[in-house]
Amino acid sequence: MNYETKLLSTSEYDITYAAKLLADGEVVGIPTETVYGLAADAENEEAVKNIFKAKGRPQDNPLIVHIADISQLEEYVYDVPQLAYKLAEKFCPGPLTMVLPKKNRIPNVTSAGLDTVGIRIPYHPAARKLIQESGKALAAPSANLSGSPSPTTAMHVMNDMNGRIPAIVDGGSCPVGVESTVISFENGKIRLLRPGFISADELSEFSEVICDKHITEAAIEGEQVRSPGMKYKHYSPKANITIISGSREQYIDYVNSHGGDGIYAMPFSRDECYCRIPCIPYGDTSEEQASKLFAVLREFDDIGAKQVYAYCPFVDGVGLAVYNRLLRAAGFEIITL
Ligand code: TXA
Ligand code: MG
Repeated sequence: MNYETKLLSTSEYDITYAAKLLADGEVVGIPTETVYGLAADAENEEAVKNIFKAKGRPQDNPLIVHIADISQLEEYVYDVPQLAYKLAEKFCPGPLTMVLPKKNRIPNVTSAGLDTVGIRIPYHPAARKLIQESGKALAAPSANLSGSPSPTTAMHVMNDMNGRIPAIVDGGSCPVGVESTVISFENGKIRLLRPGFISADELSEFSEVICDKHITEAAIEGEQVRSPGMKYKHYSPKANITIISGSREQYIDYVNSHGGDGIYAMPFSRDECYCRIPCIPYGDTSEEQASKLFAVLREFDDIGAKQVYAYCPFVDGVGLAVYNRLLRAAGFEIITL
């Protein structure tokens, strides 16, 4: 791992160059509508091992496999329920990952030894072109160093991956900003494993949705989880993050009386003007907060914040995804006023 990492554009020339790298078994940072991914040929064991190396990712955390079209689904998985096709009709291409029994062509390194694999069809045009031009299904976790906030710009990827991969395709800021909604199927029901832009409410129009308890509760040491990612503290900036829950007035009073060296507030944007300690606001609607969250967490690192008091986001719709990521960034530390 000692590359001169190239920053590529989404021009036809650069996409063809990146697709060739992928076809040759290299790892490339790619834009998607959710967050940037660290992509490689999902069927090439060596290439996939290099993703784990570049990220410093634990070997037991499986990768999502990205395909260009729903017609390819059964090349990689079997026992696909009708419900999966109904969901795909509505939400794919888009930020939905469906966990299904994997066929043998998906190597065990990719699925981290599980007999299932998460499949997603991204709608970002650059991601789609890269899959099509390389002719490969692309395994891609978020393109951050393991444990860091997910990257939502090419610069975030460069900060984490410079020298570790040959190239990054710059497709601008990721519009969604949080990773895909991950689901599995259980006796005709949908189990939500990771909340995302596609909300439990939207999914519940198709079938009953079981929200896995580890979306909002920390797994106890050694406890069985349905998705390996639930075991890890994620999205963690260097600062200690604490979520503050209560009325907006209570939050403002709390931060204004808890200022000090390296202490910051992370309020809703409309409350920035009331904060008398330094702050970085993260938007007002859940959609805006989803798109800003990871960039704001990275900004706190850049300015050397030691302690951040974040105002608790809404927990419905996309807000559940924001809450889930912030809870993990906070190591589940929450103060209720
Ligand atoms: O939006 C996204 O999903 C982004 C972009 C790049 O597509 N990718 C992403 O991948 O977030 P990653 O590896 O950072 O997160 C994948 C999550 C992990 O928490 C993992 O444990 C879970 O999905 N997962 C993957 N395969 C699974 C499986 N077979 N069973 C259960 N959980 C799985
Ligand atoms: Mg990730």
